[in-house]
Amino acid sequence: MTRTVLITGPTRGLGRAAVLAMAGRPAGLRPDLILVGRALSAVAAEARTLGARVHEVVADLSRLADVRAAAGTVREMVGDQPLHALIANAGAMSSDTRHTSADGFELTFAVNYLAHAQLISALPTPARVVLLGSNTYYANVWRRLLGVPEAQWRDPAELARPATGATNPGIKAAGVAYSNAKLAILYYAHELQRQAGPGVAVSVFEPGWMPGTDLGRGAPPALRAISRALGRIPGVSTPQRSGPALASVALDDKWAGLRDGAFVLKDRVIAVQPIAHDVDRERRLWATTTKLFAASATPGSSRAL
Ligand SMILES: NC(=O)c1ccc[n+]([C@@H]2O[C@H](COP(=O)([O-])OP(=O)(O)OC[C@H]3O[C@@H](n4cnc5c(N)ncnc54)[C@H](OP(=O)(O)O)[C@@H]3O)[C@@H](O)[C@H]2O)c1
Repeated sequence: MTRTVLITGPTRGLGRAAVLAMAGRPAGLRPDLILVGRALSAVAAEARTLGARVHEVVADLSRLADVRAAAGTVREMVGDQPLHALIANAGAMSSDTRHTSADGFELTFAVNYLAHAQLISALPTPARVVLLGSNTYYANVWRRLLGVPEAQWRDPAELARPATGATNPGIKAAGVAYSNAKLAILYYAHELQRQAGPGVAVSVFEPGWMPGTDLGRGAPPALRAISRALGRIPGVSTPQRSGPALASVALDDKWAGLRDGAFVLKDRVIAVQPIAHDVDRERRLWATTTKLFAASATPGSSRAL
């Protein structure tokens, strides 16, 4: 039976490379693809040229109403049949933590975390859920030297709330929000596994640092130019190298046993830091997320949380 894989954020960077890696597999090993994103026609055409059957589901992940509608469209396509895999790849790092999603939530938290939690909750649970993590959730020597901020966890209702004030809190605050969203993904993965049970394979994929992708597209031009230059250093991670590794985690038998939010750094499972396991935070995040979804479905109420 043909397997179906849904991927968000397939239009560029890592997601596009993973789509092309899946579409380029030999017939029989090639999954049907459901692409979820904003402007899908170019990557869909490329994947079809490689031989894949592709469904396009247009959604802006900064609008939870779009995400719910996308889930409805996917349910109509696949019925009660769980997807073989859902790859929650889309990501963004807003340059200003005052920026909000359509529902009034802090944009980075909304796109990286809330949209995917909403999508997954509105579908029959896929056999594999591959979430996109980032090691920026904790500081190491290199990230300290480069000034990449680690997570500073707060109550999830606060993380969902945009900053206020007349001036942009700045690039460091934006980095903290990104790292918080990625720590939220780790907490969510652990709780999702408990809620979904052992029949579902929940993992978190970290592609390695891929400087020069469009993730930091809102950053100052000088910083973007430095990133692009760093992206050309031999040996540094790239979408072309990490995309096929992401496709493998979604498709290959060797990864079928991943459970409990196992953290895959490109092609090997590594342990996460102790801070990434916290049952109280994980339960609190799950409960708050449910309330945020309810608020977003009731116009005008999200700011009250
Ligand atoms: N780059 C790194 O070094 C790195 C390291 C660790 C983890 N990651 C993670 O890897 C994933 C892919 O990152 P990347 O570097 O490939 O970034 P990228 O090149 O900027 O691609 C991001 C993807 O997310 C989509 N997206 C963003 N906002 C969206 C929205 N509101 N609605 C729908 N789609 C949206 C983009 O679609 P559009 O084309 O419509 O904008 C694009 O397809 C992210 O989850 C990121 O956090 C990246």
